[in-house]
Amino acid sequence: MEQVLFSLLQLSDTHLQAAGKRLKTGDSGAEALGQAIAKAFRTQAQFDAVILTGDLVDRGAVEEYRELEAGLRALPQGLPRYFCLGNHDAREAFTEVFGSLKDAGHSDALDTHYQYSAPLFTFKEQVVRLVVLDTLEPGKDQGRLCEQRRQWLHNTLSLYPNDRIVLVMHHLPFLTGSALFDSMVVEERRQLEEVLACFKTVERIVCGHFHRACVTQLAGIPVVVSPSTVHAYPLSYRGRQHEALVIDEPAGFTIHRFIVDAQTAYWVSHFVQQSPA
Ligand SMILES: [Fe+2]
Repeated sequence: MEQVLFSLLQLSDTHLQAAGKRLKTGDSGAEALGQAIAKAFRTQAQFDAVILTGDLVDRGAVEEYRELEAGLRALPQGLPRYFCLGNHDAREAFTEVFGSLKDAGHSDALDTHYQYSAPLFTFKEQVVRLVVLDTLEPGKDQGRLCEQRRQWLHNTLSLYPNDRIVLVMHHLPFLTGSALFDSMVVEERRQLEEVLACFKTVERIVCGHFHRACVTQLAGIPVVVSPSTVHAYPLSYRGRQHEALVIDEPAGFTIHRFIVDAQTAYWVSHFVQQSPA
């Protein structure tokens, strides 16, 4: 059996804009996405799936999602891709371009939010499954997991008591010590922790939003936060100073490898830095 049984490429905070537009920092989300995909396939030859963890585009506009769709054509045809929405996204505009969860055959998806689960592969008769949460609250930058979304999570985890779950969400369910981002963490993070504590099946939580790599744990579960493909923010960043923002660290992405080690197997997450533009 191969040592790397499954490779999941995580592209986060891609912040695509309409054609010809740039972010306030001067970056182009489309150029950065192209560089990230090229670097990913220089880092390793192939992947089994891709997850995009929110802030897919910058303003939630249909034309931006069309640019994202065009940029993702650089991925191999047929490579499964899974989307998660962030505070810069808009559900209606997203689904206009990428279709609804029902269209994609996610029968257990939540009707009102972009929440769904998807089996990735099987290892020793256990399904390894993504469960994707939608922490977007329109008009707000803060992450939310209302009663309805938490109940769906509880129900979904109850449906798959023997699976190995990777939980995916854009916003952070913990504080970082960075003032701006701590004002946007998931408001109901304690209630989320209570739901997770009812199950032993979630073995990794994967986030974006922070535009930096970091690691912690929630309910004893490792939480891995991917950098953004576009740019990094300094830890002291307080926002609303885009023009003065010095991007002194490279952007990046994350490769999650499911490693088989004798009779056991586990996820290992690799942070990859892109070269500065
Ligand atoms: Fe972002």
